[in-house]
Amino acid sequence: MKIENIKLKNFRNYQSLDLDFSPEINSLVGKNAQGKTNLLEAIYFCCIGKSFRTNREKEMIFGGKESAKIVLKAKNQIREKTIEVQVQKEGKKIVKMDGLNIRRIGDVLGEVPLVIFSPYEMRLVKESPEERRRFMNIDISQTNKKYFYLLSRYDKILDNRNKLLKSTQNKAVILETIDIWNRALAAAGIKIAEERKKFVEEIAPFAMSANKFISNGETLKVEYKGIEVKNEEEYIKKLEKSFEKDFKLGYTTFGPHRDDIDIFLDDVEVKSFGSQGQQRTAALSLKLAELEIIKKRTGEYPILILDDVFSELDPLRRKKLLKFTSRCQTFLSTTEESFCEGKIIKISNGKVI
Ligand SMILES: Nc1ncnc2c1ncn2[C@@H]1O[C@H](COP(=O)(O)OP(=O)(O)OP(=O)(O)O)[C@@H](O)[C@H]1O
Ligand SMILES: [Mg+2]
Repeated sequence: MKIENIKLKNFRNYQSLDLDFSPEINSLVGKNAQGKTNLLEAIYFCCIGKSFRTNREKEMIFGGKESAKIVLKAKNQIREKTIEVQVQKEGKKIVKMDGLNIRRIGDVLGEVPLVIFSPYEMRLVKESPEERRRFMNIDISQTNKKYFYLLSRYDKILDNRNKLLKSTQNKAVILETIDIWNRALAAAGIKIAEERKKFVEEIAPFAMSANKFISNGETLKVEYKGIEVKNEEEYIKKLEKSFEKDFKLGYTTFGPHRDDIDIFLDDVEVKSFGSQGQQRTAALSLKLAELEIIKKRTGEYPILILDDVFSELDPLRRKKLLKFTSRCQTFLSTTEESFCEGKIIKISNGKVI
């Protein structure tokens, strides 16, 4: 899919905007705090169903107004999609696709696949496993809706099991019913783990070659670090084995909610030992690998957002990056006019000038 047009109404610092895009590169250029990231956030919001920088959606509404609205039009050779998101002051979010109300955000996810790389994405290699689970979840969900619903089912079951663990000090009472949750958790958990393992194994060779291409030939390795069980029975046994611990702690300690991805550069762990530049290239390579996976799984390259990425790369790496991503419709933001490529969109104080 390629995004043809976006309309904003009272979104962040945009009171009103109606903007057409190039199917190739779109460069958003302007001084700091003018609205470049805001516009990228609006695109992301429609494609992924949430923001990449906040969970407080109300803050997206232009100061004092009742609601914010984004309408995004995308198309490819065979279909057209209009996604409309409205955030209201009371916190309600209304999502429409081709004019019809959408109840579950999962129904939008994957309609217009998108990959983002921004300074936030450094968290992917630097921070807690939660970041890497988020990465797997968003990516797998974009090409596999079942996975998205599986995740929410798993979370609900996990929540119930944890509530039960916390509900009483009487072990016998818990043991009476925990079996139901163990079985349900195992059924969903094992499928999540399978999808993640498949995903990381698929992404690994692409990430390695992307990293080789952008860096100076270092070898990037990524490995899924998750639950190691062969079947549901084994999974249930693990849950039973960790029961005493779970009972003491009041939460479930075994399962894919603890998963991680190990990331190595030339056999050294990037998280602890990588330089700033190596961490950035590793994160970028994982993101570039996402492009290839989405292409492989859907037959089409996703939309690519590069927020504030160029200023941190030297000219050679910039060129290499653009070469690598040349088949995606790209939205990049920069403060430097000399970094611009393709359609140049000048942004000043919430307006295109
Ligand atoms: N709800 C809102 N209403 C009005 N203005 C807002 C709202 N939310 C954010 N802003 C304003 O948007 C501006 C930030 O825009 P944005 O993050 O897009 O900047 P940018 O152009 O990406 O800048 P930089 O180059 O520093 O990244 C700030 O001035 C902020 O006050
Ligand atoms: Mg910005």
